[in-house]
Amino acid sequence: MTPFHYRLDVLHCEDVPLDRLAKTFGTPSYIYSGSAIDSAFSTFQDAFSATKPLICFAVKANSNLSVLQRLAKLGSGFDIVSGGELERVLRAGGDPSKTVFSGVGKTEAEIRAALTAQIHCFNVESAEELDRIDLVAQHMGQQAPISLRVNPDVNPDTHPYIATGLKESKFGIPIEQALKLYERAATLSGIKIVGIDCHIGSQITQLEPYEAAMDALFDLVDQLLEKGIVLRHIDLGGGMSVCYLDEQPFPLAALADSVALKLRDRDLQLILEPGRYIVADAGILLTEVLYTKHNGDHGFGIIDAAMNDLIRPALYGSPQKILPVKAQSGTDRSIDIVGPICETGDFLAKDYPIRVQAGELLALAAVGAYGMSMSSNYNTRGRAAEVLIDGEEARLIRRRELVEELLASETDCLHKDSSGEVLSNQSEAKQ
Ligand SMILES: Cc1ncc(COP(=O)(O)O)c(C=O)c1O
Repeated sequence: MTPFHYRLDVLHCEDVPLDRLAKTFGTPSYIYSGSAIDSAFSTFQDAFSATKPLICFAVKANSNLSVLQRLAKLGSGFDIVSGGELERVLRAGGDPSKTVFSGVGKTEAEIRAALTAQIHCFNVESAEELDRIDLVAQHMGQQAPISLRVNPDVNPDTHPYIATGLKESKFGIPIEQALKLYERAATLSGIKIVGIDCHIGSQITQLEPYEAAMDALFDLVDQLLEKGIVLRHIDLGGGMSVCYLDEQPFPLAALADSVALKLRDRDLQLILEPGRYIVADAGILLTEVLYTKHNGDHGFGIIDAAMNDLIRPALYGSPQKILPVKAQSGTDRSIDIVGPICETGDFLAKDYPIRVQAGELLALAAVGAYGMSMSSNYNTRGRAAEVLIDGEEARLIRRRELVEELLASETDCLHKDSSGEVLSNQSEAKQ
């Protein structure tokens, strides 16, 4: 049975009716199915059983501590992109030795924190970053384990904002420069070369872009071997797609077979960094219809969730499936489902065939990835609550943010005597 299903005409998450969750926790709330997270993780792990990869869940997809803790217990490692995400992994009981650090702008403080935690590897994204990591590691009397994130110039055929392996994107090191940089890295005393890495994009639906990226990377691995640079691992990133509407499922078995074939005669550990694939289907955003209206011929359902809660439709124009919590028979009318934010871009779905009325509950489906983790406080809206379901049990894993909390860091400043608080340029520079 899918984790979200109708029972007696009411949408449930596992064994809990969503209307009950709305009463208990309010709306908008993110609701996650624990069993859906577990089963996506084991589906992924089982598909790659021949190569037994280190699976490093991309924390940016869903960074709730309880979700990370659950994945850590399943044996997952983590892919982080900031010191904040490192802190989350550590607090959730994640294993730093199974953690890789990606991202184009690691600060000195973040590099120091990651070296102190003894992470598995830095995925280095530029020559200057390599030098910075080398210096920090030397100061700490350590050698930083690194891989170069190589940009193989592959078109992943996805939304331009989430295509990261193209020459013109800011990510990675152009593949034609990588060999030279590896040779230089081999001379740096604060650096220990351990691997090679790429991540070509997100919501990739086809096998071909992965094959093209792998061919480019394995070719480089061979050239490195000839120069005496031996790698321990190859990291192919994440990006495996999920079905938001009626897309074909991602060819996971075909990718696993292809990787296994290419790794057959090589002594290289495989690392993968899936995010969306593990958590997208496990989450819905529960919301209430506030009002309906018609402007001319155009119908709107105005809900209490908005682009600050779920930005994917506004940012990427991504399609969004919406389910009524109380089952309804089909309709031939389509409306826009919009939020209360003062932007025309604040829509959750356009021309969506659904009947709504004020007070009705809706579930925005497949939002467990890049939903809450990309939320903001725009329009001074507190962030939604998050609830984790296991069978009949519903557990609040993040409470709804109160406006008072949002204002606290500013009200402190408001009530202080300004005379002693204004920093001169000089004192600021010393910070
Ligand atoms: C370096 C890196 N690895 C992994 C991921 C996860 O991608 P996805 O959630 O599509 O699997 C991302 C997403 O942007 C990323 O930037």
